[in-house]
Amino acid sequence: MGFLIAGGIGFIGSHTYISLRKRFPNARLVIVDNLTNSTIQTLNSLMEVTGDSILFHQLDLCDEQAVEHLFNRYHFHGILHFAGYKAVEESVVNPLKYYINNIQGTLNLVKQCLHYKIERFIFSSSATVYGNGKSPFKESDSLLPASSPYGQTKAICERILQDVAYANPWLRVSLLRYFNPIGAHESGLIGESPTSLPSNLMPYITKVAKGELPILKIFGGDYPTLDGTAVRDYIHVMDVAEGHVAALEHVRRGAHVYNLGTGRGTSVLQLVRAFEQVNGIKVPYQIVERRPGDLASVYANVHKAESGLQWKASRTIENMCRDAWNFEKRNILI
Ligand SMILES: NC(=O)c1ccc[n+]([C@@H]2O[C@H](COP(=O)([O-])OP(=O)(O)OC[C@H]3O[C@@H](n4cnc5c(N)ncnc54)[C@H](O)[C@@H]3O)[C@@H](O)[C@H]2O)c1
Repeated sequence: MGFLIAGGIGFIGSHTYISLRKRFPNARLVIVDNLTNSTIQTLNSLMEVTGDSILFHQLDLCDEQAVEHLFNRYHFHGILHFAGYKAVEESVVNPLKYYINNIQGTLNLVKQCLHYKIERFIFSSSATVYGNGKSPFKESDSLLPASSPYGQTKAICERILQDVAYANPWLRVSLLRYFNPIGAHESGLIGESPTSLPSNLMPYITKVAKGELPILKIFGGDYPTLDGTAVRDYIHVMDVAEGHVAALEHVRRGAHVYNLGTGRGTSVLQLVRAFEQVNGIKVPYQIVERRPGDLASVYANVHKAESGLQWKASRTIENMCRDAWNFEKRNILI
């Protein structure tokens, strides 16, 4: 059994590697990544956590020839495709960078998938495809125009995979719409380590807690939510990782969409308070203007994932805060 993990040095891909190795101890797992938003240190940490000597190729998925060589060299039974740019705001400023990377990379993988008749394809989609709809979001909700080019690339890739699965009925595709993955592996060795200024909330919180950034800016304090700050569905990254293992095991013919969330909303202030309480550390914050395009409340309906994948997120907000800080603290000591 062999699986390709594209973008496997990044946040979610690296955690998924650990869950895959645990579930398939004898499988050949190959990681490719161009390291644009990750560092080789994560590969070393992955080897330490798993005890594997990892098969890794530094490769850009947009390089069609390099992708062809890879598929010539290895025989895969499944592809897990995490590789893509993900910073919503950057995608508004530089949309072409997102359209080219996220779509071209996906097309090159799908071509090889068809050429070698690789049955299983798991794609990292996002709750952003729901656009300005209303929570709790269900997989059957119609996709409103995404609020950013980033979200649009996810919707386009979903559509490509749905069309390709329709035309090739042997194909089994899972389109996993993640809500807000945070936290880190419990070892503290693997976590979220973006190469530039973090655009997600939790790495921002940990950088402020660490003193690397002066203050946490909370965008909007006047939303119609319990405390005025925006509500999101935070999910532990190891629950997301395990969701991929479940998707690989339960993936059916055709293309099937699943929300990966907890089904519970937590406000930004609730998350900050939980972080402070669990870790005994203060996170100075300031409430500023809303960010254009941000919704008040985004959380998932998770019934389809629970029944279709026989998977359920089990870790708490406290687990997420503790593990994220544990990872960041370890990085202070290095
Ligand atoms: N983290 C989130 O909050 C979130 C939420 C919803 C969806 N997603 C999606 O899930 C996927 C994984 O997210 P993540 O948080 O692990 O991101 P990440 O940036 O940590 O990981 C993505 C990895 O892909 C690599 N990569 C990017 N373009 C590549 C290319 N052309 N060729 C080879 N490698 C390339 C990067 O170097 C990085 O290591 C992404 O597609 C992202 O859009 C993430």
